[in-house]
Order: sequence, then structure tokens, then C-alpha cells
Amino acid sequence: MGREPRPYGKDTSMKAFVNDDCIGCGACEGICGDVFTINDDDVAEAIEDDIPEECEEDAQEAADNCPVSAITIE
Ligand code: F3S
Repeated sequence: MGREPRPYGKDTSMKAFVNDDCIGCGACEGICGDVFTINDDDVAEAIEDDIPEECEEDAQEAADNCPVSAITIE
């Protein structure tokens, strides 16, 4: 009870988020510049769109390598 039906087919896309813990180290941009960019405030920003399929592994790697674990992929 209370569980959302799992999406099938196309609707399995992933998104990336950067939270306030980011210290702007730039590792994520280096690993996956298609998804993460350092913005004018010197912190990382993730693209608002879904992560392109071919970038999913890199985006996950960036999340794993962030020194302050500021990246969430979901
Ligand atoms: Fe920030 Fe972590 Fe990227 S500190 S710049 S989100 S690797």
C-alpha cells in the first residue's frame, strides 16, 4: 500500500541535484561537464533536464567522487 507504481519504458530518466554542501571543488564538472557546471557563485549546478542517457554513468561517478557528497542522483 502507498507505493507508486513503478514507471516502465521511457519514464526511467534520472535527474541530478547539487545541494548547499557544495564547496565548488569542480570535480563533478571535470568528470561530467555535460551535466554539472560551476556557476557564477562558484558552486556547481546540475542541468535541469533529465541526465542524457549516455551521461548517466559519468553523472553517477561525479556524485560518488564529490568530496562533500553534495550531489544526488535520482
Ligand atoms: Fe561541488 Fe561536489 Fe561538484 S563540491 S563542485 S558538487 S564535486
